[in-house]
Amino acid sequence: MSVGTVVVLTGAGISAESGLSTFRGPDGLWEGHHVADVATPEAFTHDPVTVQRFYNRLRARLPAVTPNAAHHALVRLEHAMGTAFHLITQNIDDLHQRAGSTRITAMHGGLTMIRHVDTGDVLSWHGDLPENEQHWRPHVVWFGERTIGLDHITEMLSQAMLFLAIGTSGTVYPANQFAAIAKRAGATTIEVNLEATAGAFDFTLTGPATQVVPGLVERLIEGPLAALAVHGG
Ligand code: OAD
Repeated sequence: MSVGTVVVLTGAGISAESGLSTFRGPDGLWEGHHVADVATPEAFTHDPVTVQRFYNRLRARLPAVTPNAAHHALVRLEHAMGTAFHLITQNIDDLHQRAGSTRITAMHGGLTMIRHVDTGDVLSWHGDLPENEQHWRPHVVWFGERTIGLDHITEMLSQAMLFLAIGTSGTVYPANQFAAIAKRAGATTIEVNLEATAGAFDFTLTGPATQVVPGLVERLIEGPLAALAVHGG
């Protein structure tokens, strides 16, 4: 029997307590915008100024926020699990990376990277892009675009013995399929959220990520994953 892995998927909810807004607020708007107006290739073609200004604002917020207890707990889990751990994030903030996560796939890209529309070159970028810039764009995945690292993610899910989703509404494809894929592969599936979602989870732990995740990680490290960490780490 092959050694299983622990796959963690995070969404905007894990960064909420660091002070970054989630996407689907009660008003259904994202920072006051309809998603179609700022997060599609068509929006960038038709109105680059609005799109660049939107991402400049999000990027400019990053220095003012810091990783929270849930981000840090996932670093402890990575250290305990070694190569048997993989983190997938839908978030485009850089809080996991700043906390110290390294075994991470940022499936929707990142605010601190930009990409050339013709060459595909990617650069690290921390300031504003000019609002009328049309050759360099945020290296983020917009609706209708291909998810980053999906083949690798699918492979990780097919080997998972535990799948943990934290702070994601499960409304966006393909991340909303991951729990079901992991479950079919034989994994136990757990979510941490303020409220249960419609995903294929065996267990839902309800509460803010900063309060639930650190304790959960400690229990996993001391308990069911201890043997696995020895073999997979
Ligand atoms: P959403 O805004 O859709 O969902 C955030 C989830 O986090 C909700 O289910 C909340 O209940 C939960 N939540 C909020 N605060 C929390 C807390 N303190 N602790 C635990 N859970 C909390 O965000 P995502 O699921 O990440 O895509 O959205 C997925 C994708 O939709 C994003 O990556 C983005 C967006 O459109 C792209 O930009 C391509």
